[in-house]
Amino acid sequence: MKKISIIGAGNVGATLASLIAMNELADVVMVDVIQDMPKGKALDMMQMLSVFNSDITVKGSNSYEDIKDSDIVVITAGIARKPGMSREDLLNTNANIMKEVVSNIYKYCSGSIVIVVSNPLDVMTYLAYKILKDYGWTRFKVMGMAGVLDSARFKYFISEKLNVSMDNINAFVLGSHGDTMVPIVSFTTVAGVPLRYLIGEEELKQLIERTRNGGAEIVSLLKTGSAYYAPAASTFIMIKSIIYDKKQILPVSVYCQGEYGYEDLVLGLPVVLGKDGIEKIVELNLEQSEKQELDKSAEKIKQLCKELYTLNIV
Ligand code: APR
Repeated sequence: MKKISIIGAGNVGATLASLIAMNELADVVMVDVIQDMPKGKALDMMQMLSVFNSDITVKGSNSYEDIKDSDIVVITAGIARKPGMSREDLLNTNANIMKEVVSNIYKYCSGSIVIVVSNPLDVMTYLAYKILKDYGWTRFKVMGMAGVLDSARFKYFISEKLNVSMDNINAFVLGSHGDTMVPIVSFTTVAGVPLRYLIGEEELKQLIERTRNGGAEIVSLLKTGSAYYAPAASTFIMIKSIIYDKKQILPVSVYCQGEYGYEDLVLGLPVVLGKDGIEKIVELNLEQSEKQELDKSAEKIKQLCKELYTLNIV
């Protein structure tokens, strides 16, 4: 049985742990800084698994030693922006958490595949890779989860608008996990039919806008936190493709070395995900306007990554 560790046993981490366990994908370890909380959640999950007669193990811990020899490590640790906190403060705080988490990954889990979920996603993935590369990780073993989630949101809004099954829709959102994300309309289809044949420009604009605000819309409704069911499900789909070596093509945040013309930044691009992590970055022939939007998204991420140097984080 494979072993998956999840750092941060909050809403996303615990929901993901329960999805992995329910689907008997791997044994799970959840680590968090909050005393005993991950142990309580793990105990509850073990009792849930007893109901289903499953022999998967879920362990909760406050000690990084328990992640030893994990095949996959998912990072959901971090804090959300609090009132009065600037974006720089948030970046600083979460970057320091990321550095601590990553130092335990290279200590205990050499050779593991690392999936970053913590926000700001693109910058956190960049930071994780920059540290891990010095300990032998290739860029194909450190990735961020964003595109699957953003594509799922786009797909849901299309399905709702057209009143067709989710199963018929193939939606692709690339770029950053932020307001410059790029829904790739030219590669979005409904039962193989290009989306533009089925929907007017104005309606399409609204769907794109709602997708870009997908996270914020949920934050404003929840009031005390951010989305977690769909983020956990999206991470689960990436893990499933890796564990079963499915080689699914999924939009994943990856460190670029020349792909699509980008260098030294992390950006959401279509990749093939298999047992060794990212097997290949797929280069699509994007429409000119889409490529221009992706360029803007890349530029924005590049500026954010630069802040890591300005703040002396890397
Ligand atoms: N080590 C381990 N866990 C930590 C650390 C640390 N150094 N610092 C914070 N944590 C834990 C917190 O104690 C908390 O339990 O990370 C957990 C984060 O969980 P939530 O606050 O519930 O946040 P969640 O909704 O799960 O989101 C986690 O994913 O989607 C992103 O923007 C989201 O960055 C956020 C992350």
